[in-house]
Amino acid sequence: MNQKKLITLDSFIDEALYHKRTGYYMKKYPFGKKGDFITAPGISILFSEMITIWIVLYWESLGKPKKFNIVELGSGDGELMLNMIKTSKNFPNFFKNLNFYIFEKSNYLKEIQKKKLKGFGLNWISNLNNLKKNKTLFIGNEFLDAFPIKQFIKKDNIWYEKYVEKVNNKYLLRDIKVNIKKYSKIVGFNFFNQEKFVEISLNQITFLKKISVFIKKRGGGILFIDYGFLNKKMFNSLQSVSKHKKRNFLLNKGKQDITHLINFSFLKKYFYHCGLNAIITTQGNFLKNMGIMERAEIMSKNKSFLAKSDIFFRVKRLTDIKQMGDLFKVIFATQKKHEFKKGFDV
Ligand SMILES: C[S@@+](CC[C@H](N)C(=O)[O-])C[C@H]1O[C@@H](n2cnc3c(N)ncnc32)[C@H](O)[C@@H]1O
Repeated sequence: MNQKKLITLDSFIDEALYHKRTGYYMKKYPFGKKGDFITAPGISILFSEMITIWIVLYWESLGKPKKFNIVELGSGDGELMLNMIKTSKNFPNFFKNLNFYIFEKSNYLKEIQKKKLKGFGLNWISNLNNLKKNKTLFIGNEFLDAFPIKQFIKKDNIWYEKYVEKVNNKYLLRDIKVNIKKYSKIVGFNFFNQEKFVEISLNQITFLKKISVFIKKRGGGILFIDYGFLNKKMFNSLQSVSKHKKRNFLLNKGKQDITHLINFSFLKKYFYHCGLNAIITTQGNFLKNMGIMERAEIMSKNKSFLAKSDIFFRVKRLTDIKQMGDLFKVIFATQKKHEFKKGFDV
């Protein structure tokens, strides 16, 4: 007997990643060599150190506010947070003013974070209203790519939305006619003009709007690091990974990660629409501007040849244009009146 079920692509991804019992992020430890993928904080501590030094300089540019929130969005295994706190302690005048928060969707990962970060006085929040009303820096590494996306395709001048249909326990893609204009209203501007294929995450849009409103009102900024592209037409960037290999995202629901590339040009435009200015650079450029090479030299002193090679091998992975250096971008959004470009110089 045919068992049919038709759901939008973003609902399918949402179920696959975040279903309470069976969702990928709700039950599985995906990070590291033995897991499915490695993220920058797990490659080298120098990534987290450079980010922290950047935050110190940014805090100084704001006039060293006495109360300052640092909110990590989607902390994963908590490695970036751990090293941000440790590095911040080297700057006591900065550290004493900080409130650290984690905003995390997965209860399973929250437990892992709580164990790792025990005793640091951190706050976990699931509602932005619970943040202290201070100047704030929101930071997310590989956070945006974890949102479920919708896809639309234009054929003979008609727009279709991608759906997933379950037929006899197999998932198949279907194109269903859609009035795409209604989504422009949600976004606030026409994002599909001159596109033949569109990828967009409405959950992400809603979330970005919320944090932009917070920043506009309270002051501070938003720093995202993620893989993505600039100044290009949209394309199908959906991908699925398990055990460090690319997979078909329709298979093994709940057992593999599903992500997409971030359209940084769109992101910048959207922040502008929300009343913020945004600047973008590549991860390689950002880390080098923040002094990652010099720090690696210092760290390597008096180390064995093997240990030195390991440090530089990891830095290369983060910064090399053929590895993460170019594909990964950094975007910083802040109030239009405040300009801070450290790390973003060409
Ligand atoms: C790809 S992982 C990145 C983890 C970590 N930032 C790192 O760099 O290793 C995505 C993280 O974001 C969390 N996440 C995804 N969507 C979220 C949402 N809407 N709100 C809060 N956390 C979310 C996931 O549970 C996971 O911790």
